[in-house]
Amino acid sequence: MRKHIVAGNWKMNCTFNEADDLINGIMEQLEQKELPRDTKLIVCPPFPYLEMTTDYANDSYFMVGAQNVSDQEKGAYTGEVSAEMLESMELDYCIVGHSERRAYYGETNKTVAAKVDQLLKHGLKPIVCVGEVLEEREANRQFEVVKQQVEEGLFHLSAEQMKEVVIAYEPVWAIGTGKTATPEQAQEIHHYIRTLLTEKYGKELAEEISILYGGSCKPSNAKELFANTDVDGGLIGGASLKAEDFIAIALSF
Ligand code: 13P
Repeated sequence: MRKHIVAGNWKMNCTFNEADDLINGIMEQLEQKELPRDTKLIVCPPFPYLEMTTDYANDSYFMVGAQNVSDQEKGAYTGEVSAEMLESMELDYCIVGHSERRAYYGETNKTVAAKVDQLLKHGLKPIVCVGEVLEEREANRQFEVVKQQVEEGLFHLSAEQMKEVVIAYEPVWAIGTGKTATPEQAQEIHHYIRTLLTEKYGKELAEEISILYGGSCKPSNAKELFANTDVDGGLIGGASLKAEDFIAIALSF
């Protein structure tokens, strides 16, 4: 059966010392509260803190992911970070296609597909974000939008490759707004994504893929979101910056 995953996306937050405190806070929480065996915890700090985080992760029970990666292999791409670099740091995961990257940095489904390819080539698992903006939801276009994102970002992959992918449904109108999707809205889209995966790759594979929910997920609403059959965990923004809240969410299955 598929894993429960709770991943913290710190976004562009924390100074070096704050990052150090946060990781230590997470480790303290993990010493006090044991996560169920089938729950995987992932921490995705900004690039400069990846090394520190992987050092700590070795002593504790969490995995480490980056928040972005280049769509190019290597070379003259000033400011970019390659999948090969992330691989050489023994990272496990990398977020791709977050709505903030799509909105502010022009990331398209095509870029997402190229980044996914880079990550898979270098043995990292992509956490691929999809989700509609408010106007699309209001026009009842959420299914169409998510379908296109999933198809164009992922459906060039072989079944073997697809097994390595985690999908995160993050309705853009729910990110950082305090407005969470209802458990019914989340389940509806998660189920729809799983149906798309079933049609393309078959039921067995579709049942193995973890689909996370993201968007104002916090300790007070995680339980009712995670209770849905097709919601396999969360991609957590704001609440992952507080160790206690982050671990409380991870304990919400
Ligand atoms: P918030 O939890 O702050 O709404 O952010 C969600 C998100 O974008 C995680 O990637």
